[in-house]
Amino acid sequence: MSNLQIFELDPADGDLVSGAFEVLRASHAADAPEAPAPHKGKFALGLVNPPPGEDEATLIAVRDGVVVGIAEAGFPNRENLHFGWATIHVHPDHRRQGVGTELLDRFIEHARGKDRTTLTLDTRLTWEDGIERSKAGQLFAEKHGFQSALTWINRRCAVDALDAAAEQELLEKSQAAAGDAYEIVSWVGRTPEHLVDTMARLDSTILAEVPLGDLELGPETIDAELKNARADRNERMGVIPIQTIAVDKATGEAVANTAVFAYDDPEYTDAFQGITIVNPEHRGHRLGTLLKILNLRLVRENYPAVRTIWTDNADVNAPMIGINVVLGYEILDGGGEFQRKLDA
Ligand SMILES: CC(C)(COP(=O)(O)OP(=O)(O)OC[C@H]1O[C@@H](n2cnc3c(N)ncnc32)[C@H](O)[C@@H]1OP(=O)(O)O)[C@@H](O)C(=O)NCCC(=O)NCCS
Repeated sequence: MSNLQIFELDPADGDLVSGAFEVLRASHAADAPEAPAPHKGKFALGLVNPPPGEDEATLIAVRDGVVVGIAEAGFPNRENLHFGWATIHVHPDHRRQGVGTELLDRFIEHARGKDRTTLTLDTRLTWEDGIERSKAGQLFAEKHGFQSALTWINRRCAVDALDAAAEQELLEKSQAAAGDAYEIVSWVGRTPEHLVDTMARLDSTILAEVPLGDLELGPETIDAELKNARADRNERMGVIPIQTIAVDKATGEAVANTAVFAYDDPEYTDAFQGITIVNPEHRGHRLGTLLKILNLRLVRENYPAVRTIWTDNADVNAPMIGINVVLGYEILDGGGEFQRKLDA
């Protein structure tokens, strides 16, 4: 182990960037080949386009000139200043040699330097009769004093999971339930300028509304400036939001939203479900189902290469899971967020 070096990845060093990506590629192939493959272009672009509202650090472990592990870490810099997260991957050929532990130690050192006191690690898990996953991540996290704080379920849905007639029937039923109190608006790309403020208000409720288990995360205030900065980053990264919202005609406020994110890579067949949220005062009108079906149609029209949409939900989020099951989502596996408090 003596010649193992841990340092921050320099995005300008093409060989190391390729080496780090190779760890992610090999881990994906070994641990969860059914899940969407990591995308090299997005990985490289992410290194030079950090997300607004968060300081990021990509630590790599290098032995004899070969990248053998990577820890991608993030530290929110507007709110939740006590918090830090990391995702650690060790190349399958180099596991059980202490590489993961060295990366974790360096992450913890980084976090202490930023006065962070609550840290998380995440890993895939086996979920019920989904695909069986290695226990390595969980055992590694627990060995290092992290405890399970939130479990989620990963699901996937073919874009044509429902036959056309069944989809149309579901759409019409939800349209009838929603009535005419709402204006439905859809777009591909940036949020239209006149909707940015109301969408920022809706987005700000997300962390308070989404089940977070025992994760010690507080609400996040999203203003128009942050929203625009995130939209700029998506554009630079080639990540395209496809979004459908409901506006309450009585108040002009956005009260429900769903978003899917696609890559502007014609070869890439996966897309990712982002948050779906319905303001509590407007639940029970089938808005979640309505928006998701309309948005799915938009994905099919605009991204014909996309075959599968992926989503994850907290295991306790029954209403969202109920909608997803009706839409044809099936379980792939689970995931866990493990949390540890650092001594002051
Ligand atoms: C989890 C992972 C990062 C561990 O990396 P690693 O370099 O093999 O970890 P280490 O060698 O530092 O292991 C430290 C301890 O964790 C535990 N551990 C790690 N892998 C284990 C396994 N497969 N089975 C049982 N215990 C394991 C052991 O206690 C181990 O100590 P030991 O080898 O002395 O028994 C690696 O398996 C991996 O990349 N998995 C896929 C991605 C993932 O789930 N990452 C999330 C981590 S929370």
